[in-house]
Amino acid sequence: MNREDFEMLKQDIIYLDNGATTLKPTILAEKVSEYYNQYSANAHRGDYDISLKVDAMYEETRKKVQNWIHAQSSDEIIFTSGATDSLNKIIFGYFRYYLQKGDEVLLTKGEHASNVLPWFELADEIGIIIRYIELDDEKKVTLENVERAITPRTKVISLAHITNVVGDIRPIKKINTLAHSQNILVLVDGAQSVPHIEVDVQDLDIDFLAFSAHKMYGPTGVGVLYGKKELLNQIHPIEFGGGMNATFSSDGVRIYDELPHLLEPGTPNIAGVIGFGSVLTYLDQIGLDHITTYEHDLHSYAIQKLKSVPNIILYNEMSESGIITFNMKDVFAQDLAIYLNKHKICVRAGNHCAKILKDELGIKNTCRISLALYNTKEEIDRLVQVLSNPKLKEEII
Ligand code: ALA
Repeated sequence: MNREDFEMLKQDIIYLDNGATTLKPTILAEKVSEYYNQYSANAHRGDYDISLKVDAMYEETRKKVQNWIHAQSSDEIIFTSGATDSLNKIIFGYFRYYLQKGDEVLLTKGEHASNVLPWFELADEIGIIIRYIELDDEKKVTLENVERAITPRTKVISLAHITNVVGDIRPIKKINTLAHSQNILVLVDGAQSVPHIEVDVQDLDIDFLAFSAHKMYGPTGVGVLYGKKELLNQIHPIEFGGGMNATFSSDGVRIYDELPHLLEPGTPNIAGVIGFGSVLTYLDQIGLDHITTYEHDLHSYAIQKLKSVPNIILYNEMSESGIITFNMKDVFAQDLAIYLNKHKICVRAGNHCAKILKDELGIKNTCRISLALYNTKEEIDRLVQVLSNPKLKEEII
């Protein structure tokens, strides 16, 4: 749907790597260019008209993000440079102070590097213990396995809402209810969920959420850190500079601003944030419900079609998201991606930054397609046709 809004789709490509980043609607570049050409002042610093206009537009995007995830207050929305930045700010700005030596953090082996490496670093620094929630036979997280993994020392559960390889939608609401009943906080990596399904932070009772704009048709270099206000009020900034201080003096006495500016030092990615605002309006006009249903139907269609491809191995037939991970028997995943590229089909191959999942799957590399609102059944048919080529292996060699 809405293919005409995406300039890149005029090229002769089938783009199926939306889990890595989505294509952008034309309005994004238009808005970014409008900012640079017509009112490219700084934000939160000027008392003249164009700067005030920038302030208003920047803050309007914050409101749009608040509405998108149903946060209680726009002060709970912090702009970052991406999901990785958000996760680092939460882990080193909040949990570094909240956790003590010996406290346990629960992860899963399906997590992206951004939700593993900061925890490893913190473990080295302050002696927390990282443990893993066991995945079931389909590599999904079940509530029973979360319950089994919790010990009296568990203080945090940190996991993706939808994983970028298996594509399972984790039961976040139930996990939160269970965790909160035992005073455990939950950090949710929403990079693969927020663009595709409703994530209502109040209904799901999410403590912290991180996601990126570029995976939801927005610009690169913009991310969102959401936290419940009472938690954010205890977060320590891990970057310091202009825009986040009310005052400071030569003797080192300083008073910092309140949220959200406390966590946004320096000149932010103003063009990106304003551009993201226009994308959120665009997505609202299409309707998230519509996007979710469309992608869900396309996913079912893709699974049903891909099953008929000779020698295909599908790893996550049962996933409910638009992420489909597969290999062809006796074909190296990266070779397959290069072969598909020859046919103008873009997919991702490798371990997809989820480097401990490969031990669970028992397979090092996979190919992944990840769907977005502009993909079509015709594109899936073409993929299936190219994968079904009886001379596929010869073409690869
Ligand atoms: N996290 C992104 C992906 O899964 C880059 O491809």
